Amino acid sequence: MEEKNFEFEKITTHLITSGFVYPSSEIYGGISNTWDYGPLGTNMKNHLKEIWRKHFVSSNMNIFQIDPAIIMNPKVWEATGHIANFHDPLIDCKYCHSRFRADDLIKAQKPELEVDSFSKDELNTIIQSGEISCPKCGKTSFTPIRQFQMMFKTTIGVTEDKASTVYLRPETAQGLFVNFKNVQRTQRAKLPFGICDIGKAFRNEITPGNFTFRMREFEQMEIEFFFKPGEDLKWFEYWKNECLEFVNKIGLDKNKLRFRDHSPKELAFYSKATCDIEYCYPTLGWGELMGIASRTNYDLDRHAKCSNQDLTYLDSSDNSRYLPHVIEPSFGLDRLLLALLCDAYDVEKLAKDERIVMHIDKKLAPYGVAILPLSNKLNDSAREKLWGLISAEYDAVFDTTGSIGKRYRREDAIGTPYCVTFDFDSLEDESVTVRDRDTMAQERVKISDLMKYLYTKFHE
Ligand code: GAP
Repeated sequence: MEEKNFEFEKITTHLITSGFVYPSSEIYGGISNTWDYGPLGTNMKNHLKEIWRKHFVSSNMNIFQIDPAIIMNPKVWEATGHIANFHDPLIDCKYCHSRFRADDLIKAQKPELEVDSFSKDELNTIIQSGEISCPKCGKTSFTPIRQFQMMFKTTIGVTEDKASTVYLRPETAQGLFVNFKNVQRTQRAKLPFGICDIGKAFRNEITPGNFTFRMREFEQMEIEFFFKPGEDLKWFEYWKNECLEFVNKIGLDKNKLRFRDHSPKELAFYSKATCDIEYCYPTLGWGELMGIASRTNYDLDRHAKCSNQDLTYLDSSDNSRYLPHVIEPSFGLDRLLLALLCDAYDVEKLAKDERIVMHIDKKLAPYGVAILPLSNKLNDSAREKLWGLISAEYDAVFDTTGSIGKRYRREDAIGTPYCVTFDFDSLEDESVTVRDRDTMAQERVKISDLMKYLYTKFHE
């Protein structure tokens, strides 16, 4: 197939104008690094969560999904080290006052350096060397690095004193760790087993977000998989493969995916190994899609010590007690969705014109089926005969505006795999025309056979 390279901005403009994503609080001028999902993006996110859930949770006897709170006891974040260490290295250009993350700026201008493993002092030395320039004004003079706390603070209760300060969780993972004992006890879970969730996380990102790639409020789908110490590398390899299988399953282009192992210098001190799956986003280049981290017993150990609770596991095979070790596959839902949308976007030349078409995996597409009455005179009959039937099984859209050609184009541009057209003959022959998004081929199908026909198409 012909390799096409579309500009990131061209794709995101399409996503905004067609209803996948909107700038947040747009009527007030928006708010940086914050986006709202429109009806199409929301449907697609729901489908993606469901496929993730089916792949990792419902088909696995020993993975338990929970829904922990966003605001947790602040001692959680003291225990994990987030209050002390969850910082971004910030610098300002002394001339134009633009603000950047020092590590991002160095990465962009000196890609040969292993920036992720550098300390604050090492980053500062490079920033002050005169070799890094401001992308806005070209000058090379920056303020020294300041560490900027990325957790959002708020207060609970009626007073706003220090004692009532709480944080919006910067990762969903800690809700899983603090519930280790609850899940193990109530579900009578035996190692190895996992706890997972899907939910919002919040980070006070201060640098440009590249659309939904970096947001202040985003969704994560995380698993903490607990096992007997010593099995770390076996389970790390297992989860690397599982995650790769998942990103292949949802149809991401294999040529735009790669594993990136963190170098020993980059690893957190408690981690035995960490690996990202990266995706090559148009214009932006390679970026982290998700991460798989070996976290040993660091989190459970910290929570056990700081809460004074016994979080050990009693292994009935030999009556030993220990803190399980953990592998953490952590997916960012928004980055996954963005990668899928970038992959799917296409502009195809046709005999007389061209069409935008989103070749989204059929099960992930915002709408599975569009119902198109050929004339307004047919709206009631089409609704009566088709809406209930189709919408019981698929997310459906009922579109009555514009010529049929325009409606086909509109559905192609949002990735609807099948259009079902109800015409005047349908009143007589109880049949409809089904049009395929990708081939644009049309087939006449009896309404009584329609659901079986669609089922076959969605599962081929
Ligand atoms: N519990 C581990 C953890 O949170 P992370 O690498 O910081 O690890 C995991 O985040 C995933 O969450 C990333 O791979 C990415 O997909 C997503 N993510 C992180 N920060 C994000 C942001 N500001 N906007 C959108 N997605 C983000």
